[in-house]
Amino acid sequence: MDAPLERSRPDDDRFLTIGKIDTIDRIDEIEASDPIARFRSWYRDAEKRGARQPDAMALATVGRGGVPSLRFVLLKGADERGFVFVTDGRSRKGGELARNAHVAATFYWNATGKQVRIEGRARPVSAAESDELWRDRPRGSQLSAAASLQSALLAERAVLVRRRAELARRFRGQPVPRPDGWCGYRIVPERIELWVHRANRLHHRELFERSARGWRKTLLQP
Ligand SMILES: Cc1cc2nc3c(=O)[nH]c(=O)nc-3n(C[C@H](O)[C@H](O)[C@H](O)COP(=O)(O)O)c2cc1C
Repeated sequence: MDAPLERSRPDDDRFLTIGKIDTIDRIDEIEASDPIARFRSWYRDAEKRGARQPDAMALATVGRGGVPSLRFVLLKGADERGFVFVTDGRSRKGGELARNAHVAATFYWNATGKQVRIEGRARPVSAAESDELWRDRPRGSQLSAAASLQSALLAERAVLVRRRAELARRFRGQPVPRPDGWCGYRIVPERIELWVHRANRLHHRELFERSARGWRKTLLQP
C-alpha cells in the first residue's frame, strides 16, 4: 500500500532525494536542535498544507493495573513549557492523571507524512491559565461542557440536552462560569520523537531525550 501515500503526499522539497544524495543529512545540520521548535514548525507546515485537524492529538493515560487508555484531545498550545490540552478533570482521563501523571501523546499529519510522539508527565495548569482557556472557548461549547460530567454514566441523552438548555437560560446575558474540575493540563515532555515518512518506507526517526543539559538527539532505525 505504499503507492497511494507516495502519490498523495505533497512533495516536500526539504526531504527530496536528489540523485543518490539524500538531502536529509544536510537538513540535520540546519534544523533547530530543539524538538519543540521543530514541532511548532511541523505543525505550521501541516496547517499550510491543508491538514484538516492538525491539532488532533492521541493521548494515552495509564489506568488501573497499568492498563493504557487512549483517546483524542485537541492541542491548545505548544511552547518550551510543554503541550496544553483542556478537559474535565473529573473524567476518566482526569482520574487516571491524578493517580499517574505519565502520558504518551501522538500526532500524525497525513498532509506532510509526519508523526510526532511525546512522552512526559501531564499536570493541571494554574487556575488563571484554565480561566483563560475557558474564556477562549465558544459559548456553545462552554454550555455543553458545563452540562456534562465527562465520562459519568448518562441515563438518556434527553437529560443532557435538558441540562444544557437550563444552563443556557440561567446564564443568559452573562458569562458561563468555568465548571469545577474543567481545566487545562500541560504535558511536560521528557522524550519527543520526530518521524518523517520516506520513500520505500526507509523512514527517518529522530529521538530527543531531555537531560539536565537540555535535549539530546539520537537517530533510531525505522
Ligand atoms: C478529534 C477529537 C478531539 C477531541 N478533543 C477533546 C478535548 O480537547 N478534550 C476532551 O476532554 N475531549 C475531547 N474529545 C473527546 C475525547 O476523545 C474523549 O471522548 C473524552 O475526553 C472522554 O475521555 P475519557 O473518558 O477517557 O476521559 C475529542 C474527541 C475527538 C475525536
